Amino acid sequence: MDLSIKNKRLRKLLWQYSSDDRSFQKLADDQYLELLNKHLSDLPDREISFFVNRKRFSLLRTLIGDALERDIGSILDAASGPFAFENYVRCHPEVVIDSFDLNPKLSGLFKDLEKTGKFNNLSFRCAGVEDFSEAKTYDLVLFNDLFYHKAVDFYGLISQLIERVKPGGLVYFDILDERSKWLWSSLGKDDRFVRYNLPNIALELSKYNLELLSITPSLGISGMVDFTARAVLYRTLRVANNYVFVARKKQN
Ligand SMILES: C[S@@+](CC[C@H](N)C(=O)[O-])C[C@H]1O[C@@H](n2cnc3c(N)ncnc32)[C@H](O)[C@@H]1O
Repeated sequence: MDLSIKNKRLRKLLWQYSSDDRSFQKLADDQYLELLNKHLSDLPDREISFFVNRKRFSLLRTLIGDALERDIGSILDAASGPFAFENYVRCHPEVVIDSFDLNPKLSGLFKDLEKTGKFNNLSFRCAGVEDFSEAKTYDLVLFNDLFYHKAVDFYGLISQLIERVKPGGLVYFDILDERSKWLWSSLGKDDRFVRYNLPNIALELSKYNLELLSITPSLGISGMVDFTARAVLYRTLRVANNYVFVARKKQN
């Protein structure tokens, strides 16, 4: 399986990345930030900054931004965390988002966000991906930053979650590549995470009537130097820590 991305696409990513960089502060909306600090006061500041980091969604915008603008009317955000994605896309109030997460503290945050009147398109329930049962289907099923958790098994969950995608709808998720374990282990950053064999993931998706649209390396969210280093690493050694998969459910 060819996991490479063409120069043109890498240039597009770079452009998107730097343009997002300039508008980054817009996401750190004072009210949203204040509510994150209130409800997640046990988190270190750097984790709060992580959730308001607009660059976390640059790749999503590059890969499915057009669909988000035009075609997507309903989204299931699995393991939503503190609604960073919902905050990112709240400029599209016509899109209905159902979200769920294991963390009970998010219910209080959700109630306060609702009161701001800026998240009227959002529903939330406290649930684990393992227990999630729902008959509804969606134009987009999103799993952002979930499958690296040791307690979450991609293979055990994917079939039931893919049932939630409408025919013609999209599934978007990211996953850590086992081939780059050596590098992140040598940097002392790997012990807590689960990595996968990417061709096997692609094969698994093909069992569920899905057309794989792209597999794209994620080149970091920590600033231009970090991005450039990751881009060089990818261009020279074809090594990336994390990859985003986008697939479309076939019509029949
Ligand atoms: C790094 S956060 C990502 C949150 C969000 N998807 C985002 O991109 O901002 C990971 C989230 O996964 C949630 N999580 C972990 N295991 C889960 C499970 N088994 N079921 C549901 N949520 C889970 C955690 O509570 C946490 O909110």
